[in-house]
Amino acid sequence: MASSGGLFHLIALVTLFLCLIFPSPSLSADGEKVKLSLYYESLCPGSADFIANHLVKAFENDLINIIDLNIVPWGNAQIDNRTGAFICQHGEDECYLNTIQACAIEVWSDLERHFNFIRCVEGNVSEGGLQSWKVSAAYQEESSSSNVAASKVWESCAEELKLEEAGIYMCYTSGRGRELELQYKTETDQLIPSHQYTPWVTVNDKPLYDEFLNFVDFVCKAYRGLDKPIACNSTS
Ligand SMILES: *[C@@H]1O[C@H](CO)[C@@H](O)[C@H](O)[C@H]1NC(C)=O
Ligand SMILES: *[C@@H]1O[C@H](CO)[C@@H](O)[C@H](O)[C@H]1NC(C)=O
Repeated sequence: MASSGGLFHLIALVTLFLCLIFPSPSLSADGEKVKLSLYYESLCPGSADFIANHLVKAFENDLINIIDLNIVPWGNAQIDNRTGAFICQHGEDECYLNTIQACAIEVWSDLERHFNFIRCVEGNVSEGGLQSWKVSAAYQEESSSSNVAASKVWESCAEELKLEEAGIYMCYTSGRGRELELQYKTETDQLIPSHQYTPWVTVNDKPLYDEFLNFVDFVCKAYRGLDKPIACNSTS
């Protein structure tokens, strides 16, 4: 028994090793993926519109195969030097939803899974979902506890997408979400040049400034691989 267990382990190790030397076929051998980064904050109308209505183009056709998508939910937030609390441009709900999205990226690590969630939250925000939760009767009853309306926004998205919410609550209440946000703050602070507004979109770390809506063109131009995705056919 012991030796067959040992053999099994050896086979498992070799399989793992083979996986390491033959990376997944979506990583084309002839070209590195293009790094597309989005620095944003959850309640900024421009960020919400970009995520809900434009960034989705990254998932059309086969474009996502050449993109290494880096989603950074911090934006213009700051830290209160005295209390250590986060201060967000659009208030406490924004800090909360930034942190929930940071948790989603970690807990639902599959890209399409957390992207669909973030897109749903931002779509709901841009359609006035947060405001309408705030005036709803349910909110009036529970309004003594904080973030009630903001939690309705993300919970309704998790329900619609059939995503298990427990990991997100755990991440948020354990302080893991705060830790992730501090990492996103560091990443945002280290931008060269610094971001000027949100959404701030970079391609291979170069900012697109106010041309960010054309990110597909920039991604296609930055791609060095031979087999360009179909989505790049219309761009030169
Ligand atoms: C915290 O301190 C840093 C420098 O020490 C300063 O740049 C920043 O504006 C301060 N943030 C707040 C919210 O006071
Ligand atoms: C978005 O917001 C509305 C309130 O305006 C709400 O009824 C809806 O359930 C929300 N969530 C989703 C996933 O659509």
